Amino acid sequence: MTSPLVKKIKNDNLNSKALNMKRIYIKDLKSHIGSEVTIAGWVDIRRDHGKLIFIDLRDASGKVQMVALPNHKEGHALANTVRPEWVIQVTGNVNKRPEKLVNKGEPNGEIEIEILSIVVLNEAETPPIDVRGDGKEIGEESRLKYRYLDLRRPRMQKNVRNRHKVIKLVRDIMDKDGFIEIETPLLTKSTPEGSRDYVVPSRLEKGKFYALPQSPQQYKQLLMSAGMEKYFQFARCMRDEDTRGDRQPEFTQMDLEMSFVTEEDIMAINEKTLIEVVKTIYPEKKIQQIPFPRITYKEAMSKYGNDKPDIRTDKNDPNLLAFCWVVDFPFFEKEDSGKWTFTHNPFSGAKPEYLKNLMEMKDIGSIIAAQYDIVLNGYEIGGGSIRNHNAEALVKVFEIMGYERERIEKNFGHMLRAFKTGTPPHGGIAWGLDRFMMLLENEPNIREVIPFAKTGEGKDLMMESPSDISKEQLIELGIKITQ
Ligand code: AMO
Repeated sequence: MTSPLVKKIKNDNLNSKALNMKRIYIKDLKSHIGSEVTIAGWVDIRRDHGKLIFIDLRDASGKVQMVALPNHKEGHALANTVRPEWVIQVTGNVNKRPEKLVNKGEPNGEIEIEILSIVVLNEAETPPIDVRGDGKEIGEESRLKYRYLDLRRPRMQKNVRNRHKVIKLVRDIMDKDGFIEIETPLLTKSTPEGSRDYVVPSRLEKGKFYALPQSPQQYKQLLMSAGMEKYFQFARCMRDEDTRGDRQPEFTQMDLEMSFVTEEDIMAINEKTLIEVVKTIYPEKKIQQIPFPRITYKEAMSKYGNDKPDIRTDKNDPNLLAFCWVVDFPFFEKEDSGKWTFTHNPFSGAKPEYLKNLMEMKDIGSIIAAQYDIVLNGYEIGGGSIRNHNAEALVKVFEIMGYERERIEKNFGHMLRAFKTGTPPHGGIAWGLDRFMMLLENEPNIREVIPFAKTGEGKDLMMESPSDISKEQLIELGIKITQ
């Protein structure tokens, strides 16, 4: 039941009091002890103690306890009506709490806001999921469906904010090192990266399709042809593969390419950057070994049974980061059909001592690629290689895999032509940013560090995609759906 007083205040609010732009952030309240301030945010919780009403208010910067006393009549009356997740603006006095009421565990534990007045900026229905805890007890489907609510919980806020910090720091490091961030197209052409492509129908050329990039691989190499020398990009990549805890259909790479470099150069720059990120943003974490140990593919397989070994000396320590490089991968492996295929990336080069074998297509199984993976706590968080920059060597790679000359020309003519225009030797790497963030945040899967993640079935439960498109759209694209 809404009392006439509350009705009147709400009306006044609607009609007169606009959002107070002098609002201060909750994290800054401590420097305003003894003054009157205005803050705004979400009602985290309201506790009714008869005459005293306590409200915890939350904004992007923190949380504070407020109290409504009966002597501030209007504020008290409104405080009585607010519910969790209502958006309110509060004017109040920042009071120091008496010594025995100080809560040392809370950043604002030594203060309390005495509510003078409240403006309700928006009401909220009872939230379908609780946003106060860490959310681990809530079914993930509900969390993904109501992601805008789920992201309000402190754990998700922290994950998203730290992701920003990592991206920002890496951008700054790269910039200082002379790299430039260059965007590459999203509407592109099917590439053989080893996964299925997401495709986009062309309206103007019916029956033809763009492919969404599995990575910017070819563009970044073409940027080396273009004389950019030091490229990087936080790049969105799309792969139509079965999702798992460490895989999403769309994910983010920190992608990098450099000209006139060796494996050592690329590894050094990445090692330095990874260490700086950990030391700056996660100082509580310990890197097990610097320089990062290097393990050959062969050694990893024989000693650990896989090529992304978890070399942590203490697997119970959540703050231990055991990076290692895995090197010396075989270039090719045999498919079940008996055909050769690349193990990592068709654009990799062979190690110099194996170039002769590649060019003569001899002893193919023994050719070692100039490829390196960066592994952290048993997850492959990145991989790259020194590339073939010679057109004939690239042709050989595809010939070994059984491609006809004509098909090579059709699929990769642009690369071959570019290589023949004076393309410098080059190489690079891409980190799986989501995987790196998952490990830094001690999360069990990458969905926890991706603001709008998809389900295991590749669905966006909030937007309800994939979804039907209209008959008109289908006609315009020249597409007929068969059941
Ligand atoms: P690669 O395919 O190894 O290399 O990808 C680089 C890194 O990206 C991450 N990754 C993924 N993360 C989340 N979801 C996925 N579906 C997913 N797939 C890959 C991994 C992986 O190590 N162009 C080359 C890089 C290069 O050679 O420079 C490439 O894309 O952490």
